[in-house]
Amino acid sequence: MKNSSRRGFMGKAFGAVAGVGAVGALYAMKKTWDPLPSVKAAGFTTLDMSAYKENELVVEKWRGKPIFILKQDASMVETADKNPKDKSRLIKVGEAYYLVCIGLCTHLGCIPGYNPDEKEFLCACHGGKYDATAAVTKAPPPRGLDIPPFKITGNKLVLGEEGPEYKKMKETGITL
Ligand code: FES
Repeated sequence: MKNSSRRGFMGKAFGAVAGVGAVGALYAMKKTWDPLPSVKAAGFTTLDMSAYKENELVVEKWRGKPIFILKQDASMVETADKNPKDKSRLIKVGEAYYLVCIGLCTHLGCIPGYNPDEKEFLCACHGGKYDATAAVTKAPPPRGLDIPPFKITGNKLVLGEEGPEYKKMKETGITL
């Protein structure tokens, strides 16, 4: 083997070994970042709500389901104030109000879209509509979007854990 082709071969071999090493290192890092199996199995997801903006829908994922989070602006809170039942669907974190719900239509399970101009959710499957608190404004959905179990800790929202606020909602029958 000539010197230059030997160098080429060595370079390729080294590159391959380095590549395998890098993949191994990435895998090890990913394992470190991944939540512990027990945390995953418990199904908790913790969200920091401080970065969310008013009237901007955030879609998170929890237990394979889309979760809608909508920070309410002043006009939404004002509208909800006129209907205490709707207002009771909102979660207060600090001074702000949020809608936190499962983003699956309660009719047949399509994922509704949010229209920030109209401040409402529209389900394109059969034309169902929900207001900004996810209460039904147009059939066929039989009820508002479901509210997942949650707990508030400071500015954090823990999905999958039943805090006092959720239990109160559950007692009044607005979570389902
Ligand atoms: S699935 Fe949403 S209106 Fe039918």
